[in-house]
Amino acid sequence: MTEGIVLEVDFNNKEQDITWEEIILLHNSALKEIGTKLEILNDEFQHIHQYNPIEHIKSRIKSPESIVRKLKKKGYEVTLENMAKYVNDIAGIRIICSFTSDIYQIANMLRKQNDIKVISTKDYIESPKESGYKSYHMLVSIPIYLSDSVVDTKVEIQIRTIAMDFWASLEHKMNYKFESDAPEEIRKELFECAMMVEQLDDRMLIINDKIQRAKKEEAIWKID
Ligand code: GTP
Ligand code: MG
Repeated sequence: MTEGIVLEVDFNNKEQDITWEEIILLHNSALKEIGTKLEILNDEFQHIHQYNPIEHIKSRIKSPESIVRKLKKKGYEVTLENMAKYVNDIAGIRIICSFTSDIYQIANMLRKQNDIKVISTKDYIESPKESGYKSYHMLVSIPIYLSDSVVDTKVEIQIRTIAMDFWASLEHKMNYKFESDAPEEIRKELFECAMMVEQLDDRMLIINDKIQRAKKEEAIWKID
């Protein structure tokens, strides 16, 4: 797995006090920590409200090739230090929810945890990207306890609805295929679909609220 970057990084350089393996170990551990936290929140939510705010979670470690590409794009020398310092999404978690309201609930639940430091947030739901992209992004760090040290390790968290995720994966495919040269016609059509995604999410949320209200009323009737 490390072979792709061996050419770029001198692992025997003694001035570099962190190794590639350590960087990956830390980020893998950070993914596990956040993953467990999310599972616990989802279980507790199910226990209290009888529903799961999280549909599913995808996590990944960025490939060595993408890390090198990103450092070069940002104009940094390809070193392990720069990797750990400037590549914020070595560890990435994507949380897929049913409803827009779930997104903010999850973000707030994570924000309240004392060991999680929120480094930055980007609300592309309030302010979508020009392409139409919507998601809530949080860059956080979490302490990883090693045998003789504690290392704050960054994780990029993206939270979005199923519909936003559907849209983003198709748009990603378009960008991958055409790079920055996608035909205007496809971009325009995708932008229109982004508007439809927004309407769909809004309507599904309203319907869900009606169902929840009906469930509550039914429960009150039963108590009476
Ligand atoms: P990067 O250097 O590209 O990571 O940008 P950034 O550090 O400014 O972060 P940003 O929050 O804008 O984007 C981070 C990630 O969000 C990307 O790596 C994608 O996974 C996703 N993303 C952002 N914008 C778009 C978009 O327009 N379309 C799609 N499909 N995904 C996007
Ligand atoms: Mg990124």
